[in-house]
Amino acid sequence: VNRLETSINLFNLKAFYAGRISSCGIHIEGGRIARIAKETNLPPADRRIDCGGHLVIPGLIDCHVHLRDLGFSYKEDFYTGTAAAAAGGFTSVLDMPNTSPPTDSPQRLAEKMALAQRKAIVNVGFHVAPPSDPADLSRMRLNGAFSCKFYLLKPMGNVEVRHPDVLRDYLRECRRAKMPATIHAEDGLVIERQLAASSSAITLKRFLQAHTPEAEYRSAKAVLETAGVGTKVHFCHITSCKALELIGRARRKMRISCEVTPHHLLLNDRELERIGPVALTVPPVRPEMERQRLLVACQRGSIDVLATDHAPHSLSEKLGEDYSKIAAGIAGLETALPLVLTLVKKGRLRLKPVIEMLTSKPAQVFGIRNKGVLRPGADADITVVDTRRRFKIRASEFKSKAKHSPFDGWSCIGRPIMTFVAGRLVMDHGEMMANPGEGAILRPK
Ligand code: DOR
Ligand code: ZN
Repeated sequence: VNRLETSINLFNLKAFYAGRISSCGIHIEGGRIARIAKETNLPPADRRIDCGGHLVIPGLIDCHVHLRDLGFSYKEDFYTGTAAAAAGGFTSVLDMPNTSPPTDSPQRLAEKMALAQRKAIVNVGFHVAPPSDPADLSRMRLNGAFSCKFYLLKPMGNVEVRHPDVLRDYLRECRRAKMPATIHAEDGLVIERQLAASSSAITLKRFLQAHTPEAEYRSAKAVLETAGVGTKVHFCHITSCKALELIGRARRKMRISCEVTPHHLLLNDRELERIGPVALTVPPVRPEMERQRLLVACQRGSIDVLATDHAPHSLSEKLGEDYSKIAAGIAGLETALPLVLTLVKKGRLRLKPVIEMLTSKPAQVFGIRNKGVLRPGADADITVVDTRRRFKIRASEFKSKAKHSPFDGWSCIGRPIMTFVAGRLVMDHGEMMANPGEGAILRPK
């Protein structure tokens, strides 16, 4: 029997539906939401699932994850990365191209899609890196790439996009290909020069003196001046209010969006000093004042998307004395929702905008069809959340291969308890229920 043909009724729940949270039931058929109505008005189904009165939201969408695989499969692979996603309540993720080899040609994109198709248990889409032949951008767009990622910190592959002329050419090509440009805004050329000037190991202090909010601002400004109207620009992990103000002004004349990560909302530079390299990420977490401002910006609606920047590394790569050599990145898929729900409980964020920043907003920004909302006709990608559940984060229990986190031991309130992808239960109270290959490959609309 084709499992997609099974119909399911979810009942005893409160759904985030049509902008409100209301008691209802959900009828799933053929992998889609067929009906949302009072329980008593749902058609009969092959299977009924009691949701225990919990909150039911659209499956979370993370537009910024590093699933690694290929040459870096010791850090993460499409199975473990998407298992981490399912455990965290995410049903769709967009993978970053800084793999080995990088996703920088139509051929390599096709190879990654084929591999993910065999291994993933949630839906996976792809960002690509600037190809050596700029004309390949439109080919990759046609083959299903969601954006071209511009990593302005270090060269990725063979293309040096940090040089203004090269950046201009590629951004123009993005516009032609009708492809968003996704930007890691940090002024890599200046940062590199500052770090190279040091003859001894780079201490945390020196690292932070190079990776400043100013470096983020300069880089974002250069992109905005270069892109021109007509190019759709998405800024990854914005950390400082100066960059946010710049982005806010540019919104008036450009199609522009930005994301923030849970770690930049929750950690500051003192915490980084206390925890050490496990909390190292680029751009780094900021002084407390900036963190507070980011939270306020979130509350005011100045940030479009919450994304994890799930960036797993092996533990040995996260250790060391020289901060310029320690692998930067935090595994975030399994902690994001509990962490932000805890901020909601504390009154620092509001529930509805937070859900939107994790669902409908990323779907809108990247054009992910039929997802990010609960409505009849949408794909039955659904997450059930126990918003009252108290628990301690245990990195040793992650599905991710990276079993370390700056949030290890933190107490949270709120946890995803069931994750459905196309109407299939892939995670049930922490247990993985899906086989590798049950996720779908996403392509933009
Ligand atoms: O901390 C980070 N880790 N920032 C990035 O931009 C890259 C990422 C990674 O790939 O590890
Ligand atoms: Zn990243």
